[in-house]
Amino acid sequence: MSSATALDDPRINSRIVTAYRQKTPGSADLAKQALELLPSGIAHDARNVDPYGIYVARAQGPHKWDVDGNRYVDYFGGHGALLLGHGHPKVAAAIAEAAADGSQFGSSHPREIGWAKAIQRLIPSAERVRFTSSGTEATLMGIRLARAFTGRNTVLRFKGHFHGWHDHMAAGYSNHFDGTPTPGVIQGIADKTVLCTPGDTAEVAAALASNPDIAVIILEPTGSSFGQLPLKAEFLHSLRELTAKHGALLMFDEVVTGFRTTKGGAQQLYGIKPDLSSFAKIVAGGLPGAAIVGRKDILDLLDFAASAKAGREKIGHPGTFNANPISAAAGIAALTLIAENPINETADATCAALRHGLNEVLTAEKMPWAVYGTTSGFHLFLNPKNRAITPATFDPFEASFDELKSPPTHVVNRMRLAMLVNGVDLNPRLGGFTSCTHTQQDVTDTVNAFRESIRMLKAEGELPA
Ligand SMILES: Cc1ncc(COP(=O)(O)O)c(C=O)c1O
Repeated sequence: MSSATALDDPRINSRIVTAYRQKTPGSADLAKQALELLPSGIAHDARNVDPYGIYVARAQGPHKWDVDGNRYVDYFGGHGALLLGHGHPKVAAAIAEAAADGSQFGSSHPREIGWAKAIQRLIPSAERVRFTSSGTEATLMGIRLARAFTGRNTVLRFKGHFHGWHDHMAAGYSNHFDGTPTPGVIQGIADKTVLCTPGDTAEVAAALASNPDIAVIILEPTGSSFGQLPLKAEFLHSLRELTAKHGALLMFDEVVTGFRTTKGGAQQLYGIKPDLSSFAKIVAGGLPGAAIVGRKDILDLLDFAASAKAGREKIGHPGTFNANPISAAAGIAALTLIAENPINETADATCAALRHGLNEVLTAEKMPWAVYGTTSGFHLFLNPKNRAITPATFDPFEASFDELKSPPTHVVNRMRLAMLVNGVDLNPRLGGFTSCTHTQQDVTDTVNAFRESIRMLKAEGELPA
């Protein structure tokens, strides 16, 4: 954890930590200042790095540079928002043009129509679109719509699946798997949430059969954390059948999968039409912005005329930055690029090459780990139970929830720092995303950095030599 003690802790005797400190004095200085201003010195829990994270000055394509001038190959990818890489020229030009026109009109504007059309072009289930400012807001509105539409109260979620940080989504993502409320969340919310085991059709069927109050099933359709804990297509199809049978709605949280797994998201990949879907990140071209989309009869609950005609109270939904014109411009540019170019195919091919190269390193270094993933995502399996595995053929369906989701934190942190020392920024789970701008040279650099990092951890006694 970042803290005043950790930053200056003289007890840390690690060549990796020392090398990291030597490489990043500017970041260390800023981190110290930040501790006096921001809780843990950060603005997002995933940016919590021990002893401190890098401070980035600028980014372009697949790279970012910290305040000390060090370049990193970036796989954090703006939390998944940057399928097009940093600062894509067409997106940057659209942003500049829109910014010159004004940032906030307090009125409807043409770009919000273009944005909704760009979404509909790729996502046929988006009969109607309501823009929000973040993915968290989109899933919150999705739940509200589902409750109002079905007249039911309970939300069925899956352990380990992330849908933002609002009250309904706090328990059961990284802790509180028994569904008890996290600090600041009331028991009443927990009482109306059912947490199921991902992939367990029988458990979901039993929950729906025994609880007629379930309004909606929401999930990350490729599995927790972009398939770190993957799901099978059959499971998704069974959710579609079960929700239809029991009168509950099915909501795909496509905040990360949207426009990444395929141009049409996970719903296109699996050929499933959810009732509702949430999008963020790529949908707004890497700027703040999100949307809840889906069936017209459900989104009509937000419609003044439709609600009046039906004689029911409309769901209220203000939001100062809903469909912000600059985000709209970035979103239109990004979605048009994705619709008209082999963006997904390029990012997917690079990621496949990366996974292959990293697994070759693991084999050569005799490390019982594995790199796995699909499309433009990769995950590092740290094999906490020391299973007998072959890196290249590791099947994550054979590992348990705890093995996949709870790797040894100390090794994760040291590996993350070692990769930064060697010029690569991974996400806090030691995985990441490729963009369409990562090149074969980036893959080669990353594979070399990975080999070097493993050797550094071995030399430090963190891994068996
Ligand atoms: C699957 C998923 N849903 C929802 C969210 C929340 O989106 P935001 O961070 O825009 O609130 C995230 C964010 O990472 C996410 O990964």
